[in-house]
This record gives sequence, C-alpha cells and structure tokens, in this order.
Amino acid sequence: MTPIDTPHSGAEGKETKLAKKDRFVYVAAFFAALGGLLFGYDTGVISGAILFVKQQFALTPGMEGVVVSAVLAGAVIGAIAGGPLSDRYGRRPVIIAAAILFALGAAGTALAPGVYLLIAGRVVVGVAIGVASLIAPMYIAEIAPHKIRGSLVALNQLALTVGIVISYLVDYALAGAHAWRWMFALAAIPALILGIGMLFLPESPRWLVSHALIERARTALKRVRGESKEQTEREISEIQTSLGQQTGGWAELLSAKVRPGLLIGMLLALFQQITGINTVIYYAPTIFQFAGFKSASAAILATIGVGVVNVVFTVVAVRLLDKTGRRPLLLVGLVGMVLSLTVLGWAFLSQSISGSLGLVAAASLAVYIASFAIGLGPVFWLLISEVYPLKVRGLGMGLATLVNWGSNLVVALTFLDLIQSLGRAGTFWLYAVMGVAAWLFSYLYVPETKGKTLEEIEEHWRAGRHPRELNRTT
Ligand code: BGC
Repeated sequence: MTPIDTPHSGAEGKETKLAKKDRFVYVAAFFAALGGLLFGYDTGVISGAILFVKQQFALTPGMEGVVVSAVLAGAVIGAIAGGPLSDRYGRRPVIIAAAILFALGAAGTALAPGVYLLIAGRVVVGVAIGVASLIAPMYIAEIAPHKIRGSLVALNQLALTVGIVISYLVDYALAGAHAWRWMFALAAIPALILGIGMLFLPESPRWLVSHALIERARTALKRVRGESKEQTEREISEIQTSLGQQTGGWAELLSAKVRPGLLIGMLLALFQQITGINTVIYYAPTIFQFAGFKSASAAILATIGVGVVNVVFTVVAVRLLDKTGRRPLLLVGLVGMVLSLTVLGWAFLSQSISGSLGLVAAASLAVYIASFAIGLGPVFWLLISEVYPLKVRGLGMGLATLVNWGSNLVVALTFLDLIQSLGRAGTFWLYAVMGVAAWLFSYLYVPETKGKTLEEIEEHWRAGRHPRELNRTT
C-alpha cells in the first residue's frame, strides 16, 4: 500500500474526512485549470474577432491568415520554453509568469493601434497558452492524490472546453457592437484571477523534493492534502528514492528505458491533431454551411452546440477516468471518431447536402466531438503529465506539447488546401485513417496509469517493462 492509499480505502466516515481534506487540492486544481480556460478562450475568440479585425485593418487574405495563426506560432515558442523553465524555477512561478503574459497579451491586442502590434500581442498570448497548456496539467498531476489524479488533471481540459464556449458566447454577444477589442480584453479577467490565485498556492511538492527543499515540500504536502505526518514522510521518501535513480537531462529522456514514455507522448500529441479536431472546432460554421445550414445565425448556433457537446462529454471523461481507466476511454473514443469521420466523409460525397443528409452530417460532427471529448482530448494531456520521470518531466512534456502545437499549426495551414486537392470526403477520410493508426498504436502501446502513483510509473520504466504491463504490476 502506498501512502496516499490509506485515506481513500476506509469506511464511509473516513471518506467524508477525505472529502474535507481533499477540498484544498480541488481548490488548487481549480485555480491551475484557469490556465486551461484561457487556452480555450484565447484560441476560440479569434473566430469571431477576425471578422471585424479584417474590416478595421483592411487585411488581405494572407495577413488574415497571419493574424489567426500568430497564436499557434507563439504557442510553439511557449511549449519549447515552458518545460525547462518549470524544471529550473518551479511550476508555480512559471504559471504566474504565464498569467502575466496572458494579461499583457489581452491588453496589447485590445489596444493595438495597427495590425503589426495586434499580431505581436497575439504571439504573446500564444506563448502564454503554450506554457500554460503543459504546466497546468503538470502542476495538478504533481499535487493530486493518485486515486483522483485523472479527474483532477482532466479539469484542465474541462476548463479549456468551457473557455471555448465562453469565447463563442462573448463573440456572439459583442458582434452587434463590432466590439472586437473587448473580445480580446476580457481574457485579462481570468488571467488576473489565475495569477493572484497562484500566489496563494504552494509549489509542487515533487518539484520541491527534486530541488532538495524538503521542509517546504513537507509544508506543501500537508497543505494540499492535509495528510498525517507519517504519510507525508513516507511519500517524501518515496519521491526521494525514485529521484535517486534518475540522472535527468536529455540523456535520460532519450535513454532506452524512458524512450517508451517519450514515444507515447509525442505520438499521442501528433494523433490528437492529425485526426482533425481543430479543423472541426474552428471550421465548424463552414462545415455546417457545406452541410446545408445556410444562414449565418444557424451556423453560429450549431457551432455553439459543438462547444456544448465538447463540454458535456468532457464532464463524462472527468467522472470516468479514475474508474474505467484511461485506455478504455481512449480506445472507445477513437472508435467513435473514426466511425463519425467515415460517415461525415460519406455525407460530403454528395454535391449538395440538404434535408436528412444535412442532419446526418451534423449528427456525425456531434458524435465526433463527443468521442474526442471522452478520449483523446483529456487523455493525451493526462498521460503526458504522468509518463515522464520527475527529473525529465519538464523536458518530456515540453517536447510532446511542442509536437502538439506544431502539428496543430500544420493541420490549420493545410486544411483548406486538402479540401481543394482531396475533396471534402477525402479530407475527412484521411483524418479517419489517421484515427485507425491512433487506435492501433494506443491498443498496442499505451499504458494504463489509473491508480498508480507517479513514482510507481517511474519504477515501471526503470524495470524496462513494456508500457502495457503497467496495470498488471504494482
Ligand atoms: C487540444 C486542442 C483542442 C481542444 C478542444 C485539446 O485537448 O489540445 O488542440 O482545441 O482539446 O477541446
């Protein structure tokens, strides 16, 4: 039995006590997840804002593309910088720095007198998104009791999906007044709450132990979990033992034993994007127009519907990740994605989609989003916060996040060209084929991390065992 098992396995009275003790961990996860909310809001808000920005600065289609993708370029930079910075200075200061960048970016984009400053502001926002996208799940995973780590980390993905819906609603509400500057400015509010909130939260106890700040680690563990002295000591000594067997740096990350984790993170990052999620989310109005929803307001409402489906099914994932485990959700979700993409492609074979075919297209889009939301969406970010040993967690997560944002950018830049060359049906089928590859890889290689402490997962790699054997070992 591991230190944090004890309070979870007791009778009902103990469970209630646990709920009380764990409350602070939820509060901490909630604040860190504001990083996810900003990630969702700031990536979503551009879809409405760009219509007015385009008019205001008389943008050419090329410049419009630059304004839209500036955030992705920034996120690539943030992903590169975030990991090493968080290993060196700690998770908490880096989240606070990201919050400051979010706020500066919001102010910069809202006040930008010309398009170049607007682009600069969006790059700053992108850097903050890139950093937050990896450090928020990392921080949550490192403070969470292992039995609820899946749900807690997935709160970040949930906040992300809520952020996307809020951005659609804000765009919708402010569109009448052409108030694009306010659309950007409003992100400053969660940014300030995130920054101020993090000032009151402790540093990750695991990071503290890895920097030999044992006394602070003790205090942090007691604060977030309220555990007994013995439990805290046992956990600290487990982390120390595991650290004692790690060398850190690129050499360890690339070593034969850690390589499976590296591969899992990078490939899931790629699969998460090349199965088309962001083309569906951000081109949803266009897809709905292809599908026969001609009026702009019908397309916007349908888009908000997509966002809501995303939120609702992410809630399902939050509730299930620690019960059914990560693998079943990932595998079932991928099956749903492949089937719905296949049907979507088939619906688009016909030149004019209307009536029942339009409904089939809209329904398959909803099934696709729901399937992503229970599987690949939350599971990717969760697994990358779990599979790397502590000393290389920043580097490993940074690399996986970099692949994620890099492939996001490539998919965004190629979607319209793909439609030109492969046709609509061909494009969705291509994403479906990628989904099949993702399923096979996940089935054969992705470990089940449910119920394991991060140190048990580290030990598994050290023993040189196959990733899939993880759920069979303790
Ligand atoms: C992905 C994003 C995507 C979002 C949609 C995240 O897990 O990384 O690229 O926009 O899910 O919910």
